[in-house]
Amino acid sequence: MTLTYEESLEHYLNTFKKSGEMSLRASKYIPGSYSRRSFNYGPHAIYVDKAEGAYVYTVDGKKLLDFNNNFTVSILGYQNKEVDQAIIDTMKKGYSIGNPTEEEIELAKMICERIDSIEKVKFFCSASEACVGALRIARAYTGRDKVAKMEGGYHGFLDDFSFSAHPDAAKAGDDLEHIVPLPESEGIPANRAEDVILLTQNNIEVSEKLIREHADELACVVMELQSGSGGIVTLDPEFVKRIREVTRELGILLIFDETIMIRAYKGGFQSKYNVKPDLTISGKTIGGGIPLGMVGGSAEVMDVAARNEVQMSGTHHGHRLACAAGIATLKQLDDAAYERLNGMGDRIKKELNTWALKEKIPFIVFGESSVLGYAFTREMGQRIHTHRDYWTKSDGQKMQTFALEIAVRGFLPVHRGQLGLTLPMSDQDITDFIETTKDIVKEMYS
Ligand SMILES: Cc1ncc(COP(=O)(O)O)c(C=O)c1O
Repeated sequence: MTLTYEESLEHYLNTFKKSGEMSLRASKYIPGSYSRRSFNYGPHAIYVDKAEGAYVYTVDGKKLLDFNNNFTVSILGYQNKEVDQAIIDTMKKGYSIGNPTEEEIELAKMICERIDSIEKVKFFCSASEACVGALRIARAYTGRDKVAKMEGGYHGFLDDFSFSAHPDAAKAGDDLEHIVPLPESEGIPANRAEDVILLTQNNIEVSEKLIREHADELACVVMELQSGSGGIVTLDPEFVKRIREVTRELGILLIFDETIMIRAYKGGFQSKYNVKPDLTISGKTIGGGIPLGMVGGSAEVMDVAARNEVQMSGTHHGHRLACAAGIATLKQLDDAAYERLNGMGDRIKKELNTWALKEKIPFIVFGESSVLGYAFTREMGQRIHTHRDYWTKSDGQKMQTFALEIAVRGFLPVHRGQLGLTLPMSDQDITDFIETTKDIVKEMYS
């Protein structure tokens, strides 16, 4: 009997009944039940009581191996001793202070030492804020206003970047040289779209043409080397290298948004490409689980932010607790840690892809390092190389069926098809995940 969406929905509703009740109760006080749309997991979110190591424990009494880990933040898992101790020690010294503290300098220094392209950094409370900060620096530095971004690229929820991260295929248009920038939300003034040029991931020809056409107006090109929120798409090294050459030639700043992918290697995912951006945006892991965002780059560009004329100060920017937790996190992320994390990713990819090919099931796992994507393609042999491939090649309902069912069976990916690995995951955890995935996929195609 084939496992259907309706069946997995029923399993989910029965398994996470208490979460459903809590979601209903929450909806009385919180529009949509929770503050993050990204938890749009089938009928309702799963509420968690406790999280420890690689697992979350839900209010329904289920223990789930957590491949979400706060959308890739919690790379060390939960209740990491060193991070918790750093937070406690810092709390005891006082932590919401109007003056700067040693922790901010220390974290900034660590980041500068780890990432080749970064000589100076500025902290924010979230990566969304950091994205806007990076754009302000780029605009101030170049004296130009426009930004080129990838269709399917996500750079936070603030107005400047909130275009075409998850666009509606029917409205985006087919002409890659004139993709219509679609606001991610109501409430974004339509004229903001005038400053946005949309590029297509891994399409050098069209991207270069558009950058050249708009060269006089472009402050920056911003890209995720591997996109996350819009669906996992890894950029080809040749594409990134060419964009670097063209932007350098035209005096346009190149910005890598490494909010997620800074977790790939000690030098960020950019170290694998061996390409230096002018600015790097980050957040998530570098705050060790406490809200933090960052923009870093060459001293020449970053020093624009030292001028009084360039304002982007916030009450909680560079929060002491976040800096302390970030330091404790980065200290543990040494070469061996990355090797372990990325090795688990390689294993999942290799074993599941080999199996699916043998079984002739169009299920693929892709992505790099400790952040993977998966998709049910419409035909065997298809791959995800641009955001648009998700519209044309991937079966959305099968993704939902799988996400609901695997949660019922004890594993928590991000519902849109993303797996983030954490250091406390064991080899047995990975084996269990691979075998459960095979079982479910087999049932879906039986
Ligand atoms: C690449 C990227 N940039 C920016 C952001 C925004 O980060 P935050 O949610 O911390 O504001 C995210 C969040 O998922 C992201 O993945």
